[in-house]
Amino acid sequence: MCGIVGYIGPKSLDSFLIVGLKKLEYRGYDSAGIAIIDKNELVVRKSTGKIVDLEKLIENDKFDGHVGIGHTRWATHGAPTKINAHPHTNQAQTIAVVHNGIIENYTNLKKDLINEGYIFISDTDTEIIAHLIEKYLKTEKNFENAFYQTILLLEGKFAIAAVSEFEPEKIFFVKDGAPLIIARNTTVKESFLASDLPALVPIAKESCYLENKQWGYMNNTDFKLYNWNHEPVKLQFILIDLKIEQFEKGKYEHFMLKEIHEQPSMIRRILANRIKDGIISFNEFKVGDEKLKKIGRILIQASGTSLIAGKLGKMYLENNSRIYTEADFSSEFRYRNPLVEGDTMVVGISQSGETADTIAGIHEAKSKFLRVISFVNNVNSSMARESDGIIDLLAGPEIGVASTKAYTAQLVNLFLFSLYLGRLNGNLSETELERNLKELMTIPEKIEKILNNIDPIIKIAEFLKDQKDTIFLGRTFNYPTSLEGSLKLKEISYIHASAYAAGEFKHGPIALVSENLPVILTVPNSEIRPKILSNLMEVKARLGKIITIVTEGDQEIIDLSDYHITIPDIEESLSPLLAIIPLQLLAYYTALFKGCNVDKPRNLAKSVTVE
Ligand code: G6P
Repeated sequence: MCGIVGYIGPKSLDSFLIVGLKKLEYRGYDSAGIAIIDKNELVVRKSTGKIVDLEKLIENDKFDGHVGIGHTRWATHGAPTKINAHPHTNQAQTIAVVHNGIIENYTNLKKDLINEGYIFISDTDTEIIAHLIEKYLKTEKNFENAFYQTILLLEGKFAIAAVSEFEPEKIFFVKDGAPLIIARNTTVKESFLASDLPALVPIAKESCYLENKQWGYMNNTDFKLYNWNHEPVKLQFILIDLKIEQFEKGKYEHFMLKEIHEQPSMIRRILANRIKDGIISFNEFKVGDEKLKKIGRILIQASGTSLIAGKLGKMYLENNSRIYTEADFSSEFRYRNPLVEGDTMVVGISQSGETADTIAGIHEAKSKFLRVISFVNNVNSSMARESDGIIDLLAGPEIGVASTKAYTAQLVNLFLFSLYLGRLNGNLSETELERNLKELMTIPEKIEKILNNIDPIIKIAEFLKDQKDTIFLGRTFNYPTSLEGSLKLKEISYIHASAYAAGEFKHGPIALVSENLPVILTVPNSEIRPKILSNLMEVKARLGKIITIVTEGDQEIIDLSDYHITIPDIEESLSPLLAIIPLQLLAYYTALFKGCNVDKPRNLAKSVTVE
């Protein structure tokens, strides 16, 4: 979703704002803009397109200011035009605001303002904020109070930053439902704000994550933070301990490729962290074993790739701990009044921890007094703070919009959690635990083997780049693999891809198969292999083009395939951790050969903070 930055300090302002926005571009890239207080005057620059377009626009500007805000947009209200780009101002152009989220009651507020003579130029919900502050400045004694009166009127989810000629040394901010971090570097008297940490690394030294319904302002040395009653809140800064390399592409052309290649080392790190002497532990997890033993049912709710991981999580939990588990879209779970009982535990899964649909699901669970735990990659996120317990995905920062390493981190952590619960409730024997852990330990090396053999993947990508439609098939543990493989292809290459459970395919969707339709089947070595083979034959009989992800040495399947990619042999339940790697690479190279922007696919944002 949209990215926000703010800076007060001695550095060249436009360069800080531009650098910060570039690091947040994965949150949205429809349009961008900045507002700077230049010699007590507000200067706004905005453009459609990516941050480089904004950069070009301002290349001849000579700004002389040290207070500024910036924004990169993922359009919600209003098309991605220059007029709708942030920052938005009042008519006199003395107040500028940037905003992430949605003001749900903006239509009524806008109507009232129009009746009072305020003139709007954009279609956005954000513009009302600048007009409202101006309105309240007429009755309130200072900008702080005018800002406060304005935010009290806003309904929805938002993070907002504002600068004005009335308070030229300050940036005002508020958070309610969308992420916002304030930060500082006291040695050089700099203050920052951003919707996400990458914008702040490596310049800011300490950060403070705002809670919902907190607001305030900052100058270059000082911060004031208030609650919704305008009472002061104590600020707690923590050291930022992330390294700049984690947010850079290094030797890779794209973040997505870098993150795909990071998976073996990431999994080694997760396993080293979680398993000591054959015992699984989740140190950060604060829900005691006694409470876990009482779980009667698990309800996983998540969005996008995280939900697909949740679907596999359901199988892991049911297989290893024998606890009945469901996995549902957060956006459906939240509004379908799910049937739950006191012993139901709700599990949220999210890379960002800021997905509005998933957070809404957590609120729904809490309203039903259920225990909520979250698997998150950002342990400072809203989800992490609103859950009773968290499991850190330990994936490291993921920047590519299409999720890759966060997915495999989710699978590994869910698998370990299912083993942990299985041991706890006695449904998994010590021997089974040992066997599973031993098999899990082989995964990093096996992924490395796949990553070192990309020629067949490139060959298939060259064929796929000219296709319009594709079908992905898999059974049991690899039905989610087909969902995730098809999602990756859609997201970054814009080729239509549908995924089906291979056994179900014959009950209707098989009507889609005609000559040369690419059908991508995952066929691991498993008990169900003969059934998948039949499903393959059904497609082949109708002249579909057969592409398989198949176990090394499975000559029968290889001979039946038009194209194939091999993966090392592994226990079926863990085969999704291998099978997804070639599918990630296939999507990557297909998109690359089509000339698509792999790290910034059209219409998408990494973290969607609106419902
Ligand atoms: C967006 C992203 C997806 C992601 C989903 C859930 O739609 O484009 O790649 O899977 O959000 O994100 P989360 O941060 O909750 O895992």
